[in-house]
Amino acid sequence: MLRLQKVSKIFNKNTVNEKVIFDKFDFTIEEGEFVVIIGSNGSGKSTLMNLISGKTAADSGKILIDGVDVSNQLEHVRAKQVGRVFQDPLMGTASNMRIYENLAMASRKGQKIGLKWCISKKDIDRYRDMVKSLGLGLENHLNTKVGLLSGGQRQALTLLMATMQKPRILLLDEHTSALDPKTAGIVLDHTEKIIKENNLTTLMITHNMNDAIRLGTRLVMLSGGKVIFDAKGEEKKNLTPEILLRKFSEVEHCI
Ligand SMILES: Nc1ncnc2c1ncn2[C@@H]1O[C@H](COP(=O)(O)OP(=O)(O)OP(=O)(O)O)[C@@H](O)[C@H]1O
Ligand SMILES: [Mg+2]
Repeated sequence: MLRLQKVSKIFNKNTVNEKVIFDKFDFTIEEGEFVVIIGSNGSGKSTLMNLISGKTAADSGKILIDGVDVSNQLEHVRAKQVGRVFQDPLMGTASNMRIYENLAMASRKGQKIGLKWCISKKDIDRYRDMVKSLGLGLENHLNTKVGLLSGGQRQALTLLMATMQKPRILLLDEHTSALDPKTAGIVLDHTEKIIKENNLTTLMITHNMNDAIRLGTRLVMLSGGKVIFDAKGEEKKNLTPEILLRKFSEVEHCI
């Protein structure tokens, strides 16, 4: 469903700060897989998501979604197929707009905004039901400006917005790491629910080993722009934080 073929990415090419992040990197994700990505700081996890979403252009290689080469598609064009939630709760929503306005924008992602761009009573009812399902009491505050919400409420809302149009791929970049443990748990529960209900193909980055083991159908460890561990099925189920930490230390020995 998603395929990276021989993708290379070098930052600051031909300067003293040149950094090769990916060198002819191959990676495939099947339809409906929920891939959890772990790896040390700087191992290329966010860059991988940036390459998939089109935020960062690859130097060479191909990125295919459903067999179609999207390598040259701009980020806003690819956004119709790619939903994304970042670590920073301020990034996925517009602070000065109300909850219902943010949802209306998300539901029209990829469409031109014209004079007929209006929000009906039916839309509002639909948004109310959607935010009610989050269980955060936001359904009575659809008029509230998003800037007034807590980080957890914003991330939950961003998750709704990123999945409203059922993306082909959902990218979650440490989307609960800025939240307190209780709120992170609530947002993760919603994440699992939304992914299951919509059978979304998902990539999630986390530094939390317990979440990495508990969630997802496949676990991938990145190091220096390479996949150094890839587990699914029984192998994934049998993982423990100790096993993963051992793998991390093995890599550090190699460097
Ligand atoms: N736009 C950029 N220009 C130059 N270097 C960059 C750029 N983006 C990322 N890098 C570098 O590429 C490397 C990989 O960064 P990336 O953000 O993908 O790491 P990561 O695995 O997501 O790390 P973390 O766990 O800290 O989020 C880092 O050394 C980073 O400094
Ligand atoms: Mg990152």
